Amino acid sequence: MSKIYILALDQGTTSSRSVIVDEKGEIIAIEQQEFKQIFPETSWVEHNASEILETQLSTIKKVIKKANIQAKNIVGLGITNQRETTVVWNKTTGKPIYNAIVWQDKRTANICEDLKKKGLEKHIKKTTGLVVDAYFSGTKILWILENVQGAKEEANKGNLLFGTIDSWLLWNLSDKKIHATDYSNASRTMLFDINNLCWDATILSALKIPKEMLPEVKPSSFNFGDFILDGCKIPIAGIAGDQQAALFGQTCFKKGEAKNTYGTGCFLLMNTGTKPQYSKNGLLTTIAWGINNKVYYALEGSVFVAGAAIQWLRDGLEIIKSAEESEFFSQQVDEENPVIVVPAFAGLGAPYWDMYARGAIFGLTRDTGKNHLIKATLQSLAYQTKDLLIAMQNDAETPLTALKVDGGASANNLLMQFQADILNTAVDRPKNTETTVMGAAYLAGICVGLWQLSDIETDKKIDKEFVPNITEEKRNRLYKKWLKAIERSKNWID
Ligand code: G3P
Repeated sequence: MSKIYILALDQGTTSSRSVIVDEKGEIIAIEQQEFKQIFPETSWVEHNASEILETQLSTIKKVIKKANIQAKNIVGLGITNQRETTVVWNKTTGKPIYNAIVWQDKRTANICEDLKKKGLEKHIKKTTGLVVDAYFSGTKILWILENVQGAKEEANKGNLLFGTIDSWLLWNLSDKKIHATDYSNASRTMLFDINNLCWDATILSALKIPKEMLPEVKPSSFNFGDFILDGCKIPIAGIAGDQQAALFGQTCFKKGEAKNTYGTGCFLLMNTGTKPQYSKNGLLTTIAWGINNKVYYALEGSVFVAGAAIQWLRDGLEIIKSAEESEFFSQQVDEENPVIVVPAFAGLGAPYWDMYARGAIFGLTRDTGKNHLIKATLQSLAYQTKDLLIAMQNDAETPLTALKVDGGASANNLLMQFQADILNTAVDRPKNTETTVMGAAYLAGICVGLWQLSDIETDKKIDKEFVPNITEEKRNRLYKKWLKAIERSKNWID
């Protein structure tokens, strides 16, 4: 009998990736393509949605070739995606009416202020689990409707569709037949009632968004429709936002289990079981996934800039040639680095939620060199994670025994050791750090009957555990400086 496979797509903030996973859950081929980041104005970030689709389709073709398999042997397709990023397209022409507005984009801060003035903050928190912030899709949709000529009229006539990136891909992969999303992605729009699992009429009306343009919302492990490839029908059987997919891929299936992903941003999620738990400490309540007729929730700490700060060292300041180099240069500086970098390039997310904060560098002296800056930038990832973990532990009222990590920067040993030191918690890096894309593969594989939850749970191999190794006094001294720097970065933009 011929072997069977799952095709999993990971449409991230900086690249589109396609992965082939075999029946044993092993990745046998990966293809990746970067695409353009568009910065039309300060604090605006856009992507060309057509380029996203093209790069995704091109990596699908390449990965199948690389794995040397045939479309007929692919039994399911899973999608995971950068969340919140907003696409509005014309359902007849299939063309986006504006570039995708990326989750990092802050142009809608004033719309958020209006919502607060209308007294909707409490309602939004209770209904959607989110804080009012430009991060989420809702205000981005309104911006497109108000700023693209004729868009409002077209939307009211029912000619426009909205989707997060998963919906945009699903609609195109299903030959423009299926306009849907999953619970995890819907819960990032600031329009979705996470208790009653439906779009919220009050918020839609406040943002003047016609309900007709919104996708249907389905469980994450679900047969959404077919992708026809080389004449073969491949069921699109799993969809989840990338951070929820990573939680699933790390097999955090039980209440209290948590992971931290160091991607473009940094996202700490804890499974809170089948009931939403509301944070008192600046975290978000979000849907983790819907599976086997149950909906699971998570508490989330979202930091907007993590790996993106390393990219800034490489592409903006040009003081490193590759992300990997940051480890080498950081080793040249003592752990007690006098420099602190607060990478609040897109404001501050959890637990501070300040859309008006901006990045800052503190502690410069005449002998400050590039190594100090590189190390301080790397250390900022660990400090931001500590902010999140403190909030999470206060909400959950139980300490984490170990932090499961993944994402690009988790490969950096120096950073992971500093993370364990500053948290005073062990940091566990799994053998397979491709947890995001594996989450999508698992959701699809479970839906098509290839695996069961119990098969996946047993697969928890750890590559390395980093154990805290500094004194309490030093930890407190370092963290106190960070908190001082954070305070000074807040509320910078008038
Ligand atoms: O909420 C934004 C997040 O989904 C982006 O993830 O991996 O593209 O940084 P990533």
